[in-house]
Amino acid sequence: MKVKVKVPATSANLGPGFDVAGLALTLYNTFTFEIIESGLNITGCPKQFCNEENMTYQAFVAGAKACGLEFSGLSIECGGDVPYTRGLGSSSTCIVAGLVGAFAFKDQGEDRQTILELATQIEGHPDNVAPAIFGGLTVSVMTDKVTTLNIPVKHDYRFVTLIPPFTLSTEKSRSVLPQQLSRADAIANVSHLALMVASLINGHDEGLKIGFGDRLHQPYRGKLIPGFEEIMAILGKDKDVLGCYLSGAGPTIMALIKAEDTKGVVRIKEELGHLLDGWQVEKLELDMRGYTCDYE
Ligand code: HSE
Repeated sequence: MKVKVKVPATSANLGPGFDVAGLALTLYNTFTFEIIESGLNITGCPKQFCNEENMTYQAFVAGAKACGLEFSGLSIECGGDVPYTRGLGSSSTCIVAGLVGAFAFKDQGEDRQTILELATQIEGHPDNVAPAIFGGLTVSVMTDKVTTLNIPVKHDYRFVTLIPPFTLSTEKSRSVLPQQLSRADAIANVSHLALMVASLINGHDEGLKIGFGDRLHQPYRGKLIPGFEEIMAILGKDKDVLGCYLSGAGPTIMALIKAEDTKGVVRIKEELGHLLDGWQVEKLELDMRGYTCDYE
């Protein structure tokens, strides 16, 4: 028996919601697991990741321990389109898939809250793994457990995903953040996040235009991304771009438009011109399911 797990890419933070807010996108990685007699056989990803350090394998081992699965050896076939180290949750796809794969061999692959708790322990924060698990747009709070809720979004949005040709590791991107914030910056972020969530629920375009503002991470991380300030300023002037933010730890930049703005991608490309040289531009939608798990 094989277990096939498909996990959506995610975009975390959404501006002010650092380590809190995230959304799932219609871009996927797939992982097919098979228990074999012995050893570890990983295919479909760069050679340097085909060993016991592999994140998906590590998550599978953690999942097996948590659900009491014993296995002699494992084969993992990886595939999909989520770019690596670009701020689109590729590591979350690996973590979620590994855990779900192990639980699925025990018929427990749909226990999403348990997967969330374990995935958050591994990742350290829930903002990417939560939407990868539940789909949609989520906010999460960590106490002695992880509490995640979906935001019911009023309008049909599209996510214009600007993916640079260079990578930025989460480790480096977190290392430039200050250890402490002023009260004014803390209030700015709390208020912007509240406004952004309320605007998404109510379909309030003017609130969204303000609500994606952030003073906690983007001002620091932006300096690591050539063209960041310029791109954000140009997107900010486009009246039909309802919000723009650094996706996850970056370097991808996300612009939110309405579904009916069918010329949005062409317009944004024109506005940004040479600033997008070498960048990949994708128009994505919200994935509303989160991971899927099938038996083959
Ligand atoms: N909230 C995380 C960060 C997402 O911004 O560092 C990337 O793991």
